[in-house]
Amino acid sequence: MSDVDTNDRTIEHRPDAMRRSVLLGAGAGVISAAAIAAGTASAADGPAMRDMEGKTAFITGGARGIGLASADLLARSGANIVIYDVARNLEHVDYDMATEEDMSAAKAQIEAHGVQCMTIQGDVRNRVATANAMQQAMSAYGSLDHVLVNAGITQAGPIDALGDDSVQTVVDINIVGATRTIQSAVPIMREQKSGSIVVLSSILGRRPNEWYSVYSATKWAVIGLAKSTALAVAPDGVTCNVICPTLVDTPLARSLAHMFNPDNPTWEAVEEVMRSVNPLPVAVFQPEDVAQLVKFFASDAGKHISGEVFNLDAGALAASTV
Ligand SMILES: NC(=O)c1ccc[n+]([C@@H]2O[C@H](COP(=O)([O-])OP(=O)(O)OC[C@H]3O[C@@H](n4cnc5c(N)ncnc54)[C@H](O)[C@@H]3O)[C@@H](O)[C@H]2O)c1
Repeated sequence: MSDVDTNDRTIEHRPDAMRRSVLLGAGAGVISAAAIAAGTASAADGPAMRDMEGKTAFITGGARGIGLASADLLARSGANIVIYDVARNLEHVDYDMATEEDMSAAKAQIEAHGVQCMTIQGDVRNRVATANAMQQAMSAYGSLDHVLVNAGITQAGPIDALGDDSVQTVVDINIVGATRTIQSAVPIMREQKSGSIVVLSSILGRRPNEWYSVYSATKWAVIGLAKSTALAVAPDGVTCNVICPTLVDTPLARSLAHMFNPDNPTWEAVEEVMRSVNPLPVAVFQPEDVAQLVKFFASDAGKHISGEVFNLDAGALAASTV
């Protein structure tokens, strides 16, 4: 059996450990479709290459979910981490945000990898606070090599049922907050003539969904923001890319279980629905799967790629022409 044979059916018959090393061991940093199909895509348990030693990564919304998984992988790769998170519940958002305890736990988790971790409680809607947090990172660690524009919220429901405050809050955090995060990072990265920015959009930024109209609108918007930023900062050697995941197992996603099956609002029911709609035989992704892509764009592997919009969607958009 050839090691380069990544045909799904062949992989099904490999022992787990061999499948994992064949599919993820090339160090490409990007999860292969076959790994996802084989159900082995999560990289949480393997040692990471320490190829980001001495770098600094600033992660908005890093106290849990995709942000924390990305912080963890970058830390295991040697980077010092700044977690910037609101870490309190927000008005007009109908599910819980991270807590101060989540921040402390995240810091301990990151420091266990032998790097430094600073946690700063702040809101991405506040440009001064966000810019100050990045200056704090600069003072402590001397550079700002990667910024993950990850803090985001969702509110679901029919377009005509969403209240004004909900609409405004989703727009303010997902678009204005992302803009202010990028505006805070760009002058620093321009001056140091290097850096990478990754923006979390969503599969709903690539295709519409009637239950998530405003969320979807914000996730389309940040693609325009990121691509325009990519053009603006390219002459200074700075990159800006976008990741568009389908459903990822985080508190945000779990807050939506009732939308998938009102009669059975459990995570198992969500997984069942997703398994039935995804072309590849996978239900939902893990935050660590997104982290692999973040690391790809944040590390040297992605240094010549900018303005890219990468779908992590189990093949859902394979038939799309956009
Ligand atoms: N989970 C998914 O299925 C999924 C899919 C596609 C895209 N995304 C996107 O990925 C990103 C992360 O989502 P997640 O699923 O990890 O969510 P999450 O709710 O688990 O984590 C989001 C984090 O952001 C923080 N946060 C929220 N508003 C903030 C603000 N104004 N300022 C600072 N911090 C704030 C929260 O406290 C929390 O720690 C979001 O932009 C989301 O839209 C998620």
